[in-house]
Amino acid sequence: MCGIIGYVGEKEACPLLLSALKRMEYRGYDSSGVVVVGDKARCVKSVGKLDNLKEKLEDLPGGLGLGHNRWATHGVVSEENAHPHTDCKGDIFVVHNGIIENYKELKSKLQEEGHVFVSETDTEVLSHLIEKFFEGDLESAVKKALKLVKGAYGVVAATGSDPYKIVAARMFSPLVVSVNSSGGFVASDPTALISHSREMVFLEDEEVAVISKDDFYITDLDNVAVEKEKTEIDWSIEDAQKGGYDHFMLKEICQQGESLENSIRGRLDLEEGRAVLGGVEDKKEEIIRAKKVSIIACGTSYYAGMVGECMIEEMAGVPVEVHLASEFKYKKQPLEEGEIFIFISQSGETAYTLASLREVKEKGGLTLGIVNVVGSSVARETHAGIYNHAGPEIGVASTKAFTSQSIILALFALYMGRNKGMSFEEGVNFAKEIKRIPRIADEILESKEEISEIAKKYKDYSNFLYLGRKYSYPVALEGALKLKEISYIHAEGYSAGEMKHGPIALIEESFPTFAVCPQSSVYGKMLSNIEEIKARRGKMVALGTRGDDEIAEMVDDVIYMPEVLEQLSSIVSVIPLQIFSYYVALYKGLDVDKPRNLSKCVSVE
Ligand code: F6R
Repeated sequence: MCGIIGYVGEKEACPLLLSALKRMEYRGYDSSGVVVVGDKARCVKSVGKLDNLKEKLEDLPGGLGLGHNRWATHGVVSEENAHPHTDCKGDIFVVHNGIIENYKELKSKLQEEGHVFVSETDTEVLSHLIEKFFEGDLESAVKKALKLVKGAYGVVAATGSDPYKIVAARMFSPLVVSVNSSGGFVASDPTALISHSREMVFLEDEEVAVISKDDFYITDLDNVAVEKEKTEIDWSIEDAQKGGYDHFMLKEICQQGESLENSIRGRLDLEEGRAVLGGVEDKKEEIIRAKKVSIIACGTSYYAGMVGECMIEEMAGVPVEVHLASEFKYKKQPLEEGEIFIFISQSGETAYTLASLREVKEKGGLTLGIVNVVGSSVARETHAGIYNHAGPEIGVASTKAFTSQSIILALFALYMGRNKGMSFEEGVNFAKEIKRIPRIADEILESKEEISEIAKKYKDYSNFLYLGRKYSYPVALEGALKLKEISYIHAEGYSAGEMKHGPIALIEESFPTFAVCPQSSVYGKMLSNIEEIKARRGKMVALGTRGDDEIAEMVDDVIYMPEVLEQLSSIVSVIPLQIFSYYVALYKGLDVDKPRNLSKCVSVE
């Protein structure tokens, strides 16, 4: 969740820390702080966004530093609770992502021993614990301290008495190391380091990296050396910048033609009507024999999983169950014979998704990943997988990840289907329709201005109901999620068929509905639901298929999309809903890329 950066080298640390923190601002923006070690250690912290910290900064000379963007877990948003945290002498500095579960117990013991705490955070126990064991060797003190800690950490430590070394360690919370021509770096996120190098080393749990300006080594907590391979990140610095757009979210919405194209590139055999999925080919036999597919994910990725459920059941004839990772982890559900598991995660670091994955692996299940961030934990720990190739998603509200995950699930449905009785003709037709999707996304994006005008009309409502059926049901859920997370308007997504079972009680003039209603096998049923809402004077926006005049007469505002195969409709019908949410938030004057209380990567449970 929080953003962490550590640097040691011959350059001035402070500007490097700040530019890395800027790139990771989407991970947390409650407060930020840096410490720079030169002739002495100087630490500056500030609440609020990074610009507040920048305003406070004076010259901080030195070639070693740590920086942190906080997403508060323990303790309110305040300067005292901002990182870096230090020890009693102001000599040990620590930045941390995760939750130290036994911090209360550790804190009271340390207090009994005379340590004085100044924050309410769990992190501060780390700096005092390291202080307790520090006898001139930071690495050894960090290892001794971490052996006493329970919970999750991505932690980076430095001491004012050694300006040549930083020590980083990981337990359930991502850290990536890169030593390159600019010096030695460690960060919670490859985005922070991509301007220096594309080659990075991802730490595993209980690994400790000791980093100097031109080298690093990794051991476990017991000092056993660990050999690591470098991972080449497949995107560039331009991908991690706004590129002329006002917001990352808008850029990512508008990029979807391209990101969808990237997700299917080289993966469609149009002549044979097959999907070519090299990343799961080794597991082909188990996939073909599968009697059930379970999909596990959180948030937007979970809704993409629901899209996949409809596709795989319809195209491959295999039953699918979709689980929220946060629930699955606690359900103790027994594995069924022939059940395979797909874990969907943009970041590849979502704590619940990762925990569920580990549980399934431990029980012997086959695990496949659909992951965007190359080298991330879910990507590394699944038996096989398919990368999204959607490029970095920086806007906190997920957009291009959803469409990319959905199109990969379409490829997977085709892959499974053609190996399980889908005919050649059906396969060829489905493959051709998948191929059309990126251009359809581009066409929809041409209606951006029109959708923005509609958004302006609805920006002041306090509530919204989103309705859809079958393939449009997950789209309704995702549309409601997008609206609530960036515009703070209460929005509920419902299956339109459920409306009469409760939510219709909410409908009145001041409670508008967004109906996702492209031409489909459930179109007639959707129209009936729309009638029922109109009868109760509810305001309505509808998403319909171009040429559908009937729907235009029934609702207050209509957004049109091109005709698309029903089984693939969710991939593109979500785009107008993303645009709608973006403009509602924009007209409300909100910070679209950094909505309150959210973080891009939910790496704590
Ligand atoms: C919503 C959003 C979240 C994520 C969820 C899972 O816009 O971004 O709901 O989808 O936190 O994240 P990943 O896909 O990284 O596992």
